[in-house]
Formats: sequence, C-alpha cells, structure tokens
Amino acid sequence: MNRPNSVLILFAHPALEKSRVNRQLIRAVSDLASVTIHDLYEAYPNFHINVAYEQDLLRSHDIIVFHHPFYWYSSPALLKEWQDLVLEHGFAYGHNGIALQGKKLLSAITTGGSKETYCRQGHNYFTIGELLAPFQQTANLCGMQYLPPFVVNGTHQFRDPHHIATHAKDYRTIITALRDNQLPWNDLQPSLPLNQQLHVISSSFAPQEASPHV
Ligand SMILES: Cc1cc2nc3c(=O)[nH]c(=O)nc-3n(C[C@H](O)[C@H](O)[C@H](O)COP(=O)(O)O)c2cc1C
Repeated sequence: MNRPNSVLILFAHPALEKSRVNRQLIRAVSDLASVTIHDLYEAYPNFHINVAYEQDLLRSHDIIVFHHPFYWYSSPALLKEWQDLVLEHGFAYGHNGIALQGKKLLSAITTGGSKETYCRQGHNYFTIGELLAPFQQTANLCGMQYLPPFVVNGTHQFRDPHHIATHAKDYRTIITALRDNQLPWNDLQPSLPLNQQLHVISSSFAPQEASPHV
C-alpha cells in the first residue's frame, strides 16, 4: 500500500453533550491511525481561534473533513468563523495562496430533515448538494478537490440505536478508504453522497481495521 493520507476532521458541534448521532460518528473514527480529530468547540469555546495553529494543521494533512450537524442549511457558527479567519488571502487563495492546493475536502453532515424533504417537492426545496455549494466553491477557490459528501439524513426520526451504529460504521469505512487511497473515483457519482455509494466502495475495498463498538 502507498503512504496513507493524513486526514484532519474539523468537528463542530456546539452541544456535544446532547448529541445522539455525531457523538457516535466521531467515536467510530477516533482510534484510526493517521486521522486527527480536532473538536473546534472544545478548542475554542470563546471563538478565539488560533489562526497560525489551524493553518499549520491544514498544511500537515492531505484530506480535510468539515464534520458538523446541519444548522440552518449550513454549519454551526464556529466553523464559519474558522473559515473566515483561517482561510486567509495569501494562505488559502490569492497571490501565493497555495497552501491547500491539491488537498481534498469532504463535508460530513447530519440533518434533522429526511432525505425526501431535500428536493423540489419536499419542504426544504433545495437538494443537499445545492445547499453545500458554498463549501464546494470554497474548495474550488482554494484549489482543493471537493468530494461527494457523507450525509446522514433524518436524525430526528432515529429511534433504533442500531440505526445510528450502522451510519457510524459507514463513516469509519469511508474515512478509512479515503485515508488508504481506496476510493474508486471513476466509479463514483459526484452528485450522490458517498454513503449512498457504499456498494461501489465496498466491492473494491476491504477495511484493514476492525470497527470498535459504537
Ligand atoms: C440551531 C439548529 C439548526 C438546525 N438546522 C437544521 C437544518 O437547517 N436542516 C436540518 O435538516 N436540520 C437542522 N437541525 C437539526 C440538526 O441537524 C440535528 O439535530 C442534528 O443533525 C442531530 O445530530 P446530533 O444528534 O449529533 O445533535 C438544526 C438543529 C439546530 C439545533
């Protein structure tokens, strides 16, 4: 196997103590080698972001994950503040702003609304892909490749803990495949969430590391 990619998960959940879903997703990837989990609300409860530290973290990782619950069709506020401060001109874009070029960006989100509500006939009208456009275009501007997202819909309806555990297992499979350069890019549909394409991923990839109990 080639050198594994280093993965930086920028995790933003303002009320982790109340989380049912994201807490399990994070737990499922917490022991993976070459994967750094950076809990932004834990690091910066007062929103005083250490820009130089964050930029160093970005420089030293190949794949960046924005992992958060969907809040008002976007990210919780701290991740937006992080973007505003960390993705500086001259670092992330603009003249000499090449620090992120060639890296990959993945959005990993959970939504209270069901999959069916995110379409023209549904009450959220827009698709998840459309609503994630600002993240996609941010990646484009920074010279990064924006990956099909990891999306867990309908968290408000989750009753069975096994349901959440299945999503956590899928998240681990995807992060591991990304880390190990095992995603079959040519066979993936860019507009479909990665976790709806697991059959393609699984057929070309057998995870090396067993999943912990989640
Ligand atoms: C302030 C706030 C805004 C939210 N906005 C949305 C939204 O725009 N779309 C949606 O589907 N769910 C929305 N939700 C629901 C959350 O996405 C959902 O509670 C979360 O994904 C559950 O994950 P957790 O168990 O880890 O907290 C919102 C929740 C809160 C508290």
